[in-house]
Amino acid sequence: MKSSELSSEQFEIFKRMIYDMAGIHMYDGKEVLVKARLAKRLRALNLDSFDEYLEYLGQDSSGDEITQMINVLTTNKTNFFRENKHFEFIRDRLLRELQSERRPLRFWSAGCSSGEEPFTLAITLFEHLPEIHNRDIKILATDISTKVLDKARTGRYTRESVNDIPSALLNKYFSRTRVGDKDLYEVKEMIRRVIKFARLNLMGPWPMKGPFDLIMCRNVMIYFDRDVQKTLVMRYWDLLRPGGYLLVGHSESLMFVGQKFRYIEPAVYQK
Ligand SMILES: C[S@@+](CC[C@H](N)C(=O)[O-])C[C@H]1O[C@@H](n2cnc3c(N)ncnc32)[C@H](O)[C@@H]1O
Repeated sequence: MKSSELSSEQFEIFKRMIYDMAGIHMYDGKEVLVKARLAKRLRALNLDSFDEYLEYLGQDSSGDEITQMINVLTTNKTNFFRENKHFEFIRDRLLRELQSERRPLRFWSAGCSSGEEPFTLAITLFEHLPEIHNRDIKILATDISTKVLDKARTGRYTRESVNDIPSALLNKYFSRTRVGDKDLYEVKEMIRRVIKFARLNLMGPWPMKGPFDLIMCRNVMIYFDRDVQKTLVMRYWDLLRPGGYLLVGHSESLMFVGQKFRYIEPAVYQK
């Protein structure tokens, strides 16, 4: 079989693997997408067919190729100030509630992709939380994909990807830098300092104890089925401080998941 062909049996095997490893449910009809994304790995490894690739995966005891496979099969679309209503909510409600708190403040961006979400959160905190420099603030930013985390850790973005950042904030929190033949915008150290990027599979154990004041898990659970969503939402509950908030993507809804959270406004829930 040529590399351009992915049989339904092979699709089923990859579908099962990505579900077992990452909880991602590839609905039928995703064959074309899966094939196009896995074809990148075939090219990188110089393999001729998906059978050869499956054999390669089976023999790879290091787990490196599984990591690469997850990197190509995840959807990482994101941008700065995405679903800006959430950042308005953080400014107008959460930060008002937290402004007189003197305790450490903890935030988690779960499924942070290439960093735009946690960086936007940090900028919002710097803009609207009084005396931020005297506070103990940490943002944990996690993802399963090593590729996006590598990008996030550079803190460097192209002109197009900073388009949604108001120019005053761009000037204040980014510096321009030239890398090779590209002009890039680099997040300043004061912002980077409060964020820790780490690889974490939401399906696996979570080493952190919390409690968090805010968990953002936006546009991640859409890739999971109901059972996985339900389990995740219960685990978020356990890690939130009472009164803490869970933000999900605006196209996601916890309505059907049967959870204990209090609905605040679209895509905002409180413990
Ligand atoms: C579409 S992006 C969303 C990024 C950001 N939260 C936003 O809303 O702009 C979804 C991210 O979830 C990550 N993801 C998918 N399955 C995951 C899992 N099992 N554990 C951790 N991250 C996962 C993907 O790698 C991807 O970067």
